[in-house]
Amino acid sequence: MNKIIKKAVLNREVTMFRIDAPLIAKKGKPGQFIILRIDETGERIPLTIADTDAKAGLVTIIFQIVGKTTDQLSKLEEGDFLLDFAGPLGVASELDGIKSACVIGGGLGVAIAYPQAKALYNLGAKVDVIAGFRNKDLVILEAEFEKASTNFYITTDDGSQGYKGFVSNKLAELLKDGKTYDTVIAIGPVPMMKAVADITRDPYIKTIISMNSIMLDGTGMCGACRLTVDGETKFACVDGPDFDGHKVNFAEAMRRGSMYKAEEKESMDKHICRLTGGVR
Ligand code: FES
Repeated sequence: MNKIIKKAVLNREVTMFRIDAPLIAKKGKPGQFIILRIDETGERIPLTIADTDAKAGLVTIIFQIVGKTTDQLSKLEEGDFLLDFAGPLGVASELDGIKSACVIGGGLGVAIAYPQAKALYNLGAKVDVIAGFRNKDLVILEAEFEKASTNFYITTDDGSQGYKGFVSNKLAELLKDGKTYDTVIAIGPVPMMKAVADITRDPYIKTIISMNSIMLDGTGMCGACRLTVDGETKFACVDGPDFDGHKVNFAEAMRRGSMYKAEEKESMDKHICRLTGGVR
């Protein structure tokens, strides 16, 4: 059992918890994830470690309400307990040797990109961050990124804050203006990561993407996160979540990512029905 020490609603879709988990806080590295279960009947869901505080023994997770379990999770409060909180899992991001990076996050991917940006910045790298949202009401972690970046750019689809357009448009603009990076890290929806990888293919910039968005049970058993990288079959939860963005078969990943949408919707509909007695 792990206690929720701190809860913050970051926007209407995204919630942050700080969980009492000293062992994970000590070992967890950027790129890794935990698996949690709310109670005995709950499903196991993988969530990326957004931050750790080894001294206080706390692990930060940030999640978006996308289905039944994350909706239930968002209703828990400080002082409540999670039945299972296991990790750290997955292969940590390889950040050694990076001197100049552009870290790009889209939507919830912004939260997942934060530990990479923070770690690189603390290692002395030059870190430009591009964080993309649909509109200004969904912007999260602004103060945190200001402290963990050399330059911080917000983009919104509707132009309500920062640059109007997608993160990939902003990256293309920065490169056109003469910015240079030895590495680009892109985390977010699969089409967004594909767009970034297409830009950095020629002229070549090493590009790391994170496939955590296609993970389901996070244990290597369900097969949902299977993807092809450089012609070889890989599993995001076991071999990743980070991969070389120029070697991932994105078209296949996008097909697999939407495989369980119908089941998730059915589960969410039943959950809402139980909560409201059928009144939507
Ligand atoms: Fe199920 Fe990777 S998430 S096998």
